[in-house]
Amino acid sequence: MKFLYFDQVGSTQDIVKDLAQADEIEPTWVMADRQTKGRGRRSREWVSRDGNLFASGLYPWKADPTLKPLASFVVALAVAKTFESYINPVLISLKWPNDVLVAGAKIGGILLEAGEGWLTIGIGLNLQHHPEDQPYPVTHLLAHIPEADMAGAEPVFAGADPILAQLSKFITEGLETLQTKGFAPIREAWLSRAARLGETITVNLDSEQITGTFETLGENGALQLRLGDGTLRNILAGDVLL
Ligand code: BTN
Repeated sequence: MKFLYFDQVGSTQDIVKDLAQADEIEPTWVMADRQTKGRGRRSREWVSRDGNLFASGLYPWKADPTLKPLASFVVALAVAKTFESYINPVLISLKWPNDVLVAGAKIGGILLEAGEGWLTIGIGLNLQHHPEDQPYPVTHLLAHIPEADMAGAEPVFAGADPILAQLSKFITEGLETLQTKGFAPIREAWLSRAARLGETITVNLDSEQITGTFETLGENGALQLRLGDGTLRNILAGDVLL
Protein backbone atom coordinates (compact mmCIF):
# COMPACT_ATOMS: atom_id res chain seq x y z
CA MET A 1 0.00 0.00 0.00
CA LYS A 2 1.30 3.42 -0.98
CA PHE A 3 0.46 6.55 1.10
CA LEU A 4 0.84 10.07 -0.33
CA TYR A 5 0.42 13.15 1.89
CA PHE A 6 -0.21 16.74 0.79
CA ASP A 7 -0.72 20.04 2.66
CA GLN A 8 -3.30 21.25 0.18
CA VAL A 9 -4.91 19.85 -2.93
CA GLY A 10 -7.99 20.61 -5.04
CA SER A 11 -9.53 17.23 -4.26
CA THR A 12 -7.84 14.01 -3.15
CA GLN A 13 -10.49 12.25 -5.20
CA ASP A 14 -9.23 13.85 -8.42
CA ILE A 15 -5.66 12.74 -7.65
CA VAL A 16 -6.59 9.06 -7.32
CA LYS A 17 -8.89 9.22 -10.35
CA ASP A 18 -6.02 10.66 -12.42
CA LEU A 19 -3.82 7.75 -11.29
CA ALA A 20 -6.54 5.26 -12.26
CA GLN A 21 -7.09 6.86 -15.63
CA ALA A 22 -3.33 6.83 -16.27
CA ASP A 23 -3.50 3.07 -15.61
CA GLU A 24 -1.42 3.35 -12.43
CA ILE A 25 -3.75 1.10 -10.53
CA GLU A 26 -1.98 -0.05 -7.40
CA PRO A 27 -3.42 0.26 -3.90
CA THR A 28 -2.80 3.90 -2.92
CA TRP A 29 -4.13 6.34 -0.31
CA VAL A 30 -3.89 10.09 -0.81
CA MET A 31 -4.46 12.36 2.17
CA ALA A 32 -4.43 16.16 2.42
CA ASP A 33 -4.67 18.62 5.33
CA ARG A 34 -7.11 20.70 3.33
CA GLN A 35 -8.90 20.72 -0.01
CA THR A 36 -9.84 23.75 -2.08
CA LYS A 37 -12.32 21.86 -4.27
CA GLY A 38 -13.66 19.07 -2.07
CA ARG A 39 -16.54 17.25 -3.72
CA GLY A 40 -19.49 15.47 -2.15
CA ARG A 41 -22.19 13.21 -3.56
CA ARG A 42 -24.59 14.65 -6.13
CA SER A 43 -21.97 17.29 -7.16
CA ARG A 44 -22.29 19.05 -3.82
CA GLU A 45 -19.32 20.94 -2.38
CA TRP A 46 -17.48 19.30 0.56
CA VAL A 47 -16.19 22.02 2.86
CA SER A 48 -12.63 20.92 3.74
CA ARG A 49 -11.00 22.98 6.48
CA ASP A 50 -7.84 22.00 8.42
CA GLY A 51 -8.36 19.62 11.31
CA ASN A 52 -10.61 17.09 9.59
CA LEU A 53 -9.69 14.05 7.52
CA PHE A 54 -9.72 14.14 3.73
CA ALA A 55 -8.49 11.02 2.00
CA SER A 56 -9.06 8.97 -1.12
CA GLY A 57 -8.09 5.39 -1.77
CA LEU A 58 -7.49 3.68 -5.10
CA TYR A 59 -7.98 -0.08 -5.27
CA PRO A 60 -7.76 -2.50 -8.16
CA TRP A 61 -10.99 -4.46 -8.63
CA LYS A 62 -10.72 -7.97 -10.01
CA ALA A 63 -14.00 -9.55 -8.94
CA ASP A 64 -17.56 -9.47 -10.28
CA PRO A 65 -18.28 -5.80 -11.15
CA THR A 66 -21.84 -6.04 -9.83
CA LEU A 67 -20.38 -6.32 -6.30
CA LYS A 68 -18.61 -2.97 -6.66
CA PRO A 69 -21.41 -0.68 -5.40
CA LEU A 70 -21.53 -2.81 -2.22
CA ALA A 71 -18.05 -1.50 -1.34
CA SER A 72 -19.78 1.53 0.18
CA PHE A 73 -21.03 -0.72 3.03
CA VAL A 74 -17.44 -1.94 3.57
CA VAL A 75 -16.24 1.64 3.90
CA ALA A 76 -18.99 2.74 6.31
CA LEU A 77 -18.24 -0.33 8.45
CA ALA A 78 -14.52 0.48 8.42
CA VAL A 79 -15.22 4.00 9.68
CA ALA A 80 -17.45 2.61 12.44
CA LYS A 81 -14.83 0.04 13.49
CA THR A 82 -12.09 2.71 13.52
CA PHE A 83 -14.15 5.09 15.66
CA GLU A 84 -15.00 2.25 18.08
CA SER A 85 -11.49 2.54 19.53
CA TYR A 86 -11.86 6.30 20.12
CA ILE A 87 -15.38 6.76 21.47
CA ASN A 88 -18.10 4.74 23.17
CA PRO A 89 -19.21 2.20 20.52
CA VAL A 90 -22.87 2.49 21.55
CA LEU A 91 -22.86 6.01 20.10
CA ILE A 92 -22.00 4.74 16.61
CA SER A 93 -24.53 3.54 14.06
CA LEU A 94 -24.80 3.15 10.30
CA LYS A 95 -27.44 4.81 8.17
CA TRP A 96 -28.30 3.30 4.79
CA PRO A 97 -26.56 3.29 2.43
CA ASN A 98 -23.19 4.62 3.61
CA ASP A 99 -23.51 7.20 6.37
CA VAL A 100 -21.85 6.88 9.74
CA LEU A 101 -23.75 8.46 12.63
CA VAL A 102 -22.43 9.35 16.06
CA ALA A 103 -25.13 10.08 18.62
CA GLY A 104 -27.57 10.17 15.70
CA ALA A 105 -25.70 12.87 13.75
CA LYS A 106 -23.68 12.57 10.54
CA ILE A 107 -19.91 12.57 11.13
CA GLY A 108 -18.56 12.46 7.60
CA GLY A 109 -19.19 11.38 4.05
CA ILE A 110 -18.16 8.68 1.60
CA LEU A 111 -17.90 9.04 -2.17
CA LEU A 112 -17.33 6.01 -4.38
CA GLU A 113 -16.31 6.30 -8.02
CA ALA A 114 -15.34 3.43 -10.26
CA GLY A 115 -14.07 2.50 -13.69
CA GLU A 116 -13.14 -0.76 -15.35
CA GLY A 117 -10.82 -2.65 -13.03
CA TRP A 118 -10.63 0.04 -10.32
CA LEU A 119 -12.50 1.69 -7.50
CA THR A 120 -11.84 4.97 -5.71
CA ILE A 121 -13.05 5.65 -2.20
CA GLY A 122 -13.25 9.25 -1.01
CA ILE A 123 -13.68 9.78 2.73
CA GLY A 124 -14.24 13.04 4.55
CA LEU A 125 -14.46 12.73 8.35
CA ASN A 126 -15.29 15.48 10.82
CA LEU A 127 -12.57 14.99 13.43
CA GLN A 128 -12.11 18.39 15.08
CA HIS A 129 -15.06 20.40 13.81
CA HIS A 130 -18.08 20.21 11.55
CA PRO A 131 -19.70 22.65 9.16
CA GLU A 132 -22.67 24.61 10.50
CA ASP A 133 -25.99 25.13 8.74
CA GLN A 134 -26.40 21.64 7.33
CA PRO A 135 -29.95 20.48 6.57
CA TYR A 136 -29.45 17.50 8.93
CA PRO A 137 -27.77 16.98 12.35
CA VAL A 138 -23.95 16.95 12.10
CA THR A 139 -21.21 16.25 14.65
CA HIS A 140 -17.45 15.67 14.98
CA LEU A 141 -15.32 13.03 16.69
CA LEU A 142 -13.52 15.17 19.27
CA ALA A 143 -16.85 16.20 20.82
CA HIS A 144 -17.43 12.56 21.86
CA ILE A 145 -13.96 11.61 23.18
CA PRO A 146 -14.01 11.30 26.96
CA GLU A 147 -12.02 14.12 28.61
CA ALA A 148 -9.97 11.67 30.68
CA ASP A 149 -8.43 10.31 27.51
CA MET A 150 -7.55 13.74 26.19
CA ALA A 151 -5.76 14.64 29.43
CA GLY A 152 -3.62 11.48 29.37
CA ALA A 153 0.09 11.43 28.53
CA GLU A 154 -0.67 9.80 25.21
CA PRO A 155 -3.84 11.33 23.88
CA VAL A 156 -6.19 8.87 22.25
CA PHE A 157 -6.85 11.42 19.55
CA ALA A 158 -3.62 12.26 17.72
CA GLY A 159 -4.95 13.56 14.43
CA ALA A 160 -5.80 12.13 11.07
CA ASP A 161 -2.75 9.95 10.26
CA PRO A 162 -3.36 7.12 12.75
CA ILE A 163 -7.04 7.18 11.85
CA LEU A 164 -6.23 6.73 8.16
CA ALA A 165 -3.83 3.89 9.04
CA GLN A 166 -6.65 2.00 10.80
CA LEU A 167 -9.26 2.89 8.22
CA SER A 168 -7.17 1.73 5.28
CA LYS A 169 -6.46 -1.57 7.04
CA PHE A 170 -10.18 -2.24 7.68
CA ILE A 171 -11.06 -1.21 4.11
CA THR A 172 -8.39 -3.42 2.54
CA GLU A 173 -9.60 -6.39 4.63
CA GLY A 174 -13.27 -5.64 3.92
CA LEU A 175 -12.78 -5.33 0.16
CA GLU A 176 -10.88 -8.62 0.18
CA THR A 177 -13.80 -10.26 2.01
CA LEU A 178 -16.33 -8.75 -0.41
CA GLN A 179 -14.40 -9.92 -3.48
CA THR A 180 -13.70 -13.44 -2.24
CA LYS A 181 -16.72 -14.30 -0.03
CA GLY A 182 -19.40 -11.99 -1.42
CA PHE A 183 -21.71 -9.58 0.39
CA ALA A 184 -23.16 -11.91 3.09
CA PRO A 185 -20.51 -11.35 5.83
CA ILE A 186 -20.43 -7.60 5.19
CA ARG A 187 -24.24 -7.42 5.23
CA GLU A 188 -24.35 -9.18 8.60
CA ALA A 189 -21.76 -6.86 10.17
CA TRP A 190 -23.53 -3.81 8.74
CA LEU A 191 -26.95 -4.96 10.02
CA SER A 192 -25.55 -5.41 13.54
CA ARG A 193 -24.81 -1.65 13.60
CA ALA A 194 -27.75 -0.41 11.51
CA ALA A 195 -29.58 2.72 12.66
CA ARG A 196 -33.40 2.70 12.81
CA LEU A 197 -33.75 -1.00 11.92
CA GLY A 198 -37.36 -2.10 12.52
CA GLU A 199 -38.44 1.53 12.91
CA THR A 200 -40.55 3.81 10.75
CA ILE A 201 -38.37 5.87 8.42
CA THR A 202 -38.88 8.26 5.53
CA VAL A 203 -36.81 7.94 2.38
CA ASN A 204 -36.33 10.73 -0.10
CA LEU A 205 -36.34 9.43 -3.67
CA ASP A 206 -35.84 11.75 -6.62
CA SER A 207 -39.55 12.03 -7.38
CA GLU A 208 -41.25 11.19 -4.07
CA GLN A 209 -40.88 10.60 -0.35
CA ILE A 210 -41.98 7.28 1.07
CA THR A 211 -42.48 6.20 4.64
CA GLY A 212 -42.45 2.65 5.95
CA THR A 213 -40.79 0.21 8.35
CA PHE A 214 -37.09 -0.42 7.71
CA GLU A 215 -37.29 -4.21 7.52
CA THR A 216 -33.79 -5.23 6.49
CA LEU A 217 -30.89 -4.76 4.10
CA GLY A 218 -31.40 -6.85 0.97
CA GLU A 219 -28.79 -9.29 -0.34
CA ASN A 220 -28.09 -6.79 -3.12
CA GLY A 221 -27.67 -3.85 -0.72
CA ALA A 222 -31.21 -2.53 -1.25
CA LEU A 223 -33.08 -0.96 1.64
CA GLN A 224 -36.22 -3.02 2.22
CA LEU A 225 -39.14 -0.93 3.33
CA ARG A 226 -42.49 -2.41 4.41
CA LEU A 227 -45.19 0.00 3.31
CA GLY A 228 -48.54 0.67 4.99
CA ASP A 229 -50.39 -1.56 2.50
CA GLY A 230 -48.14 -4.51 3.43
CA THR A 231 -46.02 -4.54 0.26
CA LEU A 232 -42.24 -4.66 0.43
CA ARG A 233 -40.37 -2.01 -1.51
CA ASN A 234 -36.71 -2.52 -2.50
CA ILE A 235 -34.91 0.81 -2.68
CA LEU A 236 -31.56 0.96 -4.44
CA ALA A 237 -30.92 4.71 -4.33
CA GLY A 238 -32.25 7.40 -2.02
CA ASP A 239 -31.65 9.37 1.17
CA VAL A 240 -33.02 8.27 4.53
CA LEU A 241 -34.16 11.39 6.36
CA LEU A 242 -32.70 11.95 9.82
C1 BTN B 1 -20.80 13.00 0.75
O1 BTN B 1 -21.34 13.82 -0.01
O2 BTN B 1 -21.36 12.61 1.78
C2 BTN B 1 -19.44 12.44 0.38
C3 BTN B 1 -18.32 13.39 0.74
C4 BTN B 1 -16.94 12.87 0.39
C5 BTN B 1 -15.86 13.87 0.74
C6 BTN B 1 -14.47 13.31 0.54
S1 BTN B 1 -13.22 14.32 1.28
C7 BTN B 1 -11.97 13.37 0.50
C8 BTN B 1 -12.47 13.08 -0.91
N1 BTN B 1 -12.13 14.18 -1.79
C9 BTN B 1 -13.22 14.82 -2.23
O3 BTN B 1 -13.21 15.82 -2.99
N2 BTN B 1 -14.32 14.24 -1.74
C10 BTN B 1 -14.01 13.11 -0.90
